[in-house]
Amino acid sequence: MSLNVQALRKQFPILSREVDGKPLVYLDNGATTQKPQAVIDAITGFYTECNANVHRGAHALSDESTRRYEAARDSVKRFINAAKREEVIWTAGTTESINLVANGLIQRMDKDDEVIVTELEHHANLVTWQQACKKAGAKLKIAPITETGELDIEGFKDQLSERTRLVAFPHVSNALGTVNPIVELTRIAKTTGAWVLIDGAQGIAHGDVDVQAIGCDFYAFSGHKVFAPTGVGVLWGRFDVLNAWPVWLVGGEMISDVEYQSATWGELPNRLEAGTPNIAGAIGLGAALEWLMEQDLDALKAHEQAIIDYAMQKGAEFDGLTLIGTAKNKIGVMSFLLDGAHPGDVGFILDRQGVAIRTGDNCAQPLMKRLGISGTARASFSIYTTFDEVDALFAALKKAQTMLA
Ligand code: ALA
Repeated sequence: MSLNVQALRKQFPILSREVDGKPLVYLDNGATTQKPQAVIDAITGFYTECNANVHRGAHALSDESTRRYEAARDSVKRFINAAKREEVIWTAGTTESINLVANGLIQRMDKDDEVIVTELEHHANLVTWQQACKKAGAKLKIAPITETGELDIEGFKDQLSERTRLVAFPHVSNALGTVNPIVELTRIAKTTGAWVLIDGAQGIAHGDVDVQAIGCDFYAFSGHKVFAPTGVGVLWGRFDVLNAWPVWLVGGEMISDVEYQSATWGELPNRLEAGTPNIAGAIGLGAALEWLMEQDLDALKAHEQAIIDYAMQKGAEFDGLTLIGTAKNKIGVMSFLLDGAHPGDVGFILDRQGVAIRTGDNCAQPLMKRLGISGTARASFSIYTTFDEVDALFAALKKAQTMLA
């Protein structure tokens, strides 16, 4: 069944607003997605009905708040098909999830061990490992990409060795939209016995994420990229791996027994969750995933694929526009340059026409340097993007081209 995009859009209140008297054309979904009413209601409902701390109170509000908060963990478990609810660790977002793993890895690495990432990385999945390797005296190796922005599988294999301790790669590139073959990459990486972490920040909203089928050890994502609030995210980890992973943040909630001079740690998931969590955020994320699971996911996926294919086709036909990142398997992101124009100027002119995009290095400076550019203009799409909005983008680009000529 094809998607009724207009009905879907009605569930996102912000999409009907205007910018400077022009209808908002929101094409910055790679940066953050908009929120459906169901998510807004879940957050408001928490604050108006049961705001209280979780796991601590001897009172009805705390019981209700704990119930909603832990139900959200179950929603994540179902959405990513985790084997156990204890494998779902709340974090502040993808960056914190990756930092949690990297901090543990420092204690698990010896000098001259190796970590592998790819040329596609967002800074969150690069700087984290770079700094962990520096602290451990380990080596960071970078798997190459092709000119179209696809991972070079043979080059990836060449980086693996018996010293590889962890391999990290993005599910979907935030800068180019390349969809990596995550099952295949995981299978290859696992031949060395390394841990595998997938940066799912851009993948979680666009595809089927079944962590058991993927076979990785860690999958990290942010709520706000999947229709939930900012400031909350998830680190999923395989139970036996997480259960032995060094604790990172210490304090309340993650302990078992405390003396003045020593402490022992609690059970998963608490042992990796110190302090009062982002309760409303977690509830919002649970609501977002429940809302998503009520939709026709195949229809959403088909729509998103049709939108990116349409945009890329129009981009290829647009005189004076260069597409950056033309991988065969792409979703959600069209990065580009207008000949002779600075991406920042293009973004500014588009904004005057109600079209919101991102410009700059896309938090991926080494990737930009690898491609011989300093940045791009980036239109990023979501389930509620319409073909008319893609047309509006190109009409606005025509205008920008004339103004900047
Ligand atoms: N990581 C986000 C982006 O790609 C902020 O825009």
